[in-house]
Amino acid sequence: MLDSGINKVHDETRQGEAFAPFALDPNQYSKRFYIESYGCQMNFADSEIVASILNQQGFGATRNVEEADLIFVNTCSIREKAEQTVRKRLHDFRRIKEEKPGLLVGVLGCMAERLKAKFLEEEKLVDMVVGPDAYRSLPALVEEAGSGSRAINVLLSRDETYADISPVRLDSNGVTAFVSIMRGCNNMCSFCVVPFTRGRERSRDAGSILRECTDLFQQGYREVTLLGQNVDSYHFNDDIHTAPVTFANLLESIAQISPLLRVRFSTSHPKDITDDVLHTMARYDNICKYIHLPVQSGSTRILQMMNRTYTREWYMAKVDRIREIVPDCSISADIITGFCTETEEDHAETLSIMEYAGYDYSYMFFYSERPGTLAARRYKDDVPEDVKKRRLSEVIAMQNKLSRERNRFDIGQTYKVLIEGESKKSKDDWMGRNSQNKVVVFPKGDQPRAKGDYVWVKVNECTQGTLLGEIAVEQPDEQALVTA
Ligand code: SAH
Ligand code: SF4
Ligand code: F3S
Repeated sequence: MLDSGINKVHDETRQGEAFAPFALDPNQYSKRFYIESYGCQMNFADSEIVASILNQQGFGATRNVEEADLIFVNTCSIREKAEQTVRKRLHDFRRIKEEKPGLLVGVLGCMAERLKAKFLEEEKLVDMVVGPDAYRSLPALVEEAGSGSRAINVLLSRDETYADISPVRLDSNGVTAFVSIMRGCNNMCSFCVVPFTRGRERSRDAGSILRECTDLFQQGYREVTLLGQNVDSYHFNDDIHTAPVTFANLLESIAQISPLLRVRFSTSHPKDITDDVLHTMARYDNICKYIHLPVQSGSTRILQMMNRTYTREWYMAKVDRIREIVPDCSISADIITGFCTETEEDHAETLSIMEYAGYDYSYMFFYSERPGTLAARRYKDDVPEDVKKRRLSEVIAMQNKLSRERNRFDIGQTYKVLIEGESKKSKDDWMGRNSQNKVVVFPKGDQPRAKGDYVWVKVNECTQGTLLGEIAVEQPDEQALVTA
């Protein structure tokens, strides 16, 4: 997705892409900030809000850490390894700081929220600690830190959505963009730190979301991904309508901006995705036929301990419903192996539910106990690490088999692809995605085309993660190219 080639950050999460910010207009700003992001797409979207707030304060973004006056790390706490990666980076930055008096380093995001003043007190690693709901106070905090005071704000809010702040699109391909539609999470899955680091769930003003998507379309963007920890519980009450705006309503309004604007969303919680949403997806060609539906485990007993509030059978029925209403939909999942008390039988149930669902791909993790979560308080982390890892490798092997099967099924099919840019491997090839979110690479051919264009591509081959094809000689339905 985002390929900057420089200060690229990988954590072991699925969400581990990073962007390298660039100076929008190198001469416009007298001071520079550098920001690195870890964790989920929401964190990346937040960094664009932070960039907007800092721009207004006269700071321009730089890719080059050497020329920065301010360094920010937007952090993730989801697993222990994610935190270790960030910690290592903060030590790197402290070394830079020792050689550059006046340079300020700030920790943002979920680790800031989880560890709070600990960063300033015990470790003295950073000058600023700013939680995910406190970015509006960044200018004041920068000033405080500059004058040598303790600069910390980790207050969580019940209503902050940054609705009025226009994100500065950092390292964008100009075609696809993320749009936050809600913040926080009320779900309390027992393994998860997010409700503690992100606070209560709140939905962003529907009008401001529509305006942002319309602006993006007018600027030439052709795809928006609506982001929330649990998008299906979106609901917004405005002053005009008596009934709240639901996620299905929101999806429909955005799909109506233009048939040429694709809409994606993430993440759906299996307990909340409604028939209404599925029917809306089926009605609009430009709502992408792809659902990320984290299962976590295939065992009802483990799901109950995880507090996921659905059973194995409920989840399977949800998959059936998706296949019935949106037959060409691809499905992906998140899976955790080795959660507290997980037996070989529970694990076998995870493998069999994967087969049942036929995931196109999955994001797979072994359980990492997070301090303060329900699971950490209630249950013993009693599956040995080697067992967790062995089960993870079995889950990965199963997914590889399923992905190969799913991709083989695509061979010979013709898909409408939105061109996102040149292939990383060859200047002669375009790279884009189909509605099902699969990456498709194909030779450019003779006709002039550009990123942001739609083109029909016939798939000839596949690798594990990519479909390889060629521009279809006979375009299935030219009209469909215009109406997306
Ligand atoms: N809100 C989303 C995802 C949140 S975090 C959802 O509900 O699906 C992304 C994924 O990280 C989770 O789906 C889960 O599979 C994984 N994860 C969360 N906490 C974890 C932990 N303590 N150990 C291992 N994986 C974890
Ligand atoms: Fe975490 Fe569960 Fe909320 Fe997802 S739905 S963010 S896994 S608590
Ligand atoms: Fe990580 Fe926070 Fe996202 S813990 S996954 S950055 S909400």
